[in-house]
Amino acid sequence: MSKIQGKVIKVAGPLVVADGMAGAKVFEVVRVSHMGLVGEIIELDGDKASIQVYEDTSGVAPGEPVVATGDTMSVELAPGLLESIYDGIQRPLTEIEKESKSAFIARGIDVPGISRTKKWDFKPVAKEGDKLEGGDILGEVEETVLITHKVMVPPQISGTLKSIKKGEHTVEEVVAVIDGDDGKTHEIKMLQRWSIRIPRPVAESQVPNRPLITGTRSIDTFFSVAKGGAACIPGPFGAGKTVTQQSLAKYCDAEVIVYIGCGERGNEMTEVLTEFPHLKDPNTGEPLMKRTIMIANTSNMPVAAREASIYTGITIAEYYRDMGYNVALMADSTSRWAEAMREISGRLEEMPGEEGYPAYLGSRIAGFYERAGSVTCKGQDQRAGSLTVVGAVSPPGGDLSEPVTQNTLRVNKAFWGLDAGLAYKRHFPSINWLNSYSLYTENISDFWAKEVAEDFAENRSQAMTLLQEESKLEEIVKLVGMEALSNRERLVLLVAKSVREDFLFQNAFDAEDAYTPLKKQYGILKSILAIYKAGLKVISGEDFEFKNLQALPVLQEVAKAKDLKESAEFEALAQKVESEISNLK
Ligand SMILES: Nc1ncnc2c1ncn2[C@@H]1O[C@H](COP(=O)(O)OP(=O)(O)O)[C@@H](O)[C@H]1O
Ligand SMILES: [Mg+2]
Repeated sequence: MSKIQGKVIKVAGPLVVADGMAGAKVFEVVRVSHMGLVGEIIELDGDKASIQVYEDTSGVAPGEPVVATGDTMSVELAPGLLESIYDGIQRPLTEIEKESKSAFIARGIDVPGISRTKKWDFKPVAKEGDKLEGGDILGEVEETVLITHKVMVPPQISGTLKSIKKGEHTVEEVVAVIDGDDGKTHEIKMLQRWSIRIPRPVAESQVPNRPLITGTRSIDTFFSVAKGGAACIPGPFGAGKTVTQQSLAKYCDAEVIVYIGCGERGNEMTEVLTEFPHLKDPNTGEPLMKRTIMIANTSNMPVAAREASIYTGITIAEYYRDMGYNVALMADSTSRWAEAMREISGRLEEMPGEEGYPAYLGSRIAGFYERAGSVTCKGQDQRAGSLTVVGAVSPPGGDLSEPVTQNTLRVNKAFWGLDAGLAYKRHFPSINWLNSYSLYTENISDFWAKEVAEDFAENRSQAMTLLQEESKLEEIVKLVGMEALSNRERLVLLVAKSVREDFLFQNAFDAEDAYTPLKKQYGILKSILAIYKAGLKVISGEDFEFKNLQALPVLQEVAKAKDLKESAEFEALAQKVESEISNLK
């Protein structure tokens, strides 16, 4: 193959224009300048290519060479992904640090994302003579103590298994040979590649009907996201987007986590990178990194690579979904990715849309979240997998009407609106209970009824109604004072306050409080609502004194319900509330 080689004619920040590129293709990877910087062609006009460069372009001058590689931007998929920390184009940050002897990434450096020398113990699952289809599992490798890696037949291949090789292999050795239905012989290695802009195929989409259990009470009970769903966390600076995403990454019940730090400040990501390797998975006691892949493209790293980091991350996540795992991906923050799109679009002199963002902003955002899903994976065993996507959005000034938030809301069914006012009052997580929502509730209510309690959904909606009523009553109190309220209204305020302070408030930094199992969430809420139920029965009594209810010591016990553990303890507490309040009659 004769190599297409052109010349740089213009450098504008992350955008390089080259001529002499006839024959190259859009989305083809190129190497720019003598430094060999990695770039991707994003537009072709005759022999002129506009290239988005994923490395710092300073010092690149007109006349320098641009070489087309013939490949599209793709990720390497193989055992060894887990525990890795990558930059936006899947270069391993720790290895690069060793190679370039500095924490800064030397430009044009070629360090593969997957080790070529490490040997993995490949255990065949398929047998010679088997009729195989794309997605079928050829064999397994214990990638980490938590995750068994499934080596799959690439999606586009089907045929008869001719040979398969048990034992220790590097990712580049052939482990299986398939006589393809297309008449070709396919040599399969553990190392496979996939183009990052093309969603990996599945057999069938399913309706997401199980919750992703996060241990965050406000999310799980009030605004649950389904496994395979998509959620967004918009919020102004300091409202808790990063803390929320990190706590999901630590505690949620997905088997594999992909965490993308996209365009946020370096020190935030450093915190994650230094903290995570020491954290233990609360469910298994193993280090969290054993189920995690980190992609770090911080604000001091090249702008264009933010785009690559998003697509690299979601493609890796789909790959583990295809193995039959529940995968969760967090992207912090998608706004920085959108800003990168805006910058590149501006440099391309495209017609700007709203607030200078390109007209295709909405379709790119939709295309990203649409890669979430609960699916039947490709392969004859019809295994299930899911990919849940949670994206942080950083609307300037917290203004939710801006284009990134709006385009995200259009495609996401769970919305966790973080509130500057709540964060200021240090009510965390600062998820605003009045404007947040989840459209997954109906589909997962069966799960709640079966796995937690029959009246889970009922309690949830009662608590939410009380909070809404509280916000209306607060307006009245502001105008005319507490005296104007009826006993029932006072009861609403008392119980709603408890829902906020004793249930929704949750400290992500407190080892005990950070994670609450679903049954316990149910128990806490039930004991709070017992105050309301019992209260309603007594307050209409002729000379009922509301302050007697307020003064009941059992209310203090409800405030400390978080410390209880067993379902029976919660039941006992709810009964005690009931009987002590009834005695006030
Ligand atoms: N769930 C939480 N529990 C306790 N503190 C929190 C919580 N969420 C946020 N905070 C506090 O708010 C600060 C800012 O949160 P952060 O996630 O960094 O905001 P953002 O990413 O939205 O800018 C944190 O450093 C922490 O002190
Ligand atoms: Mg943040």
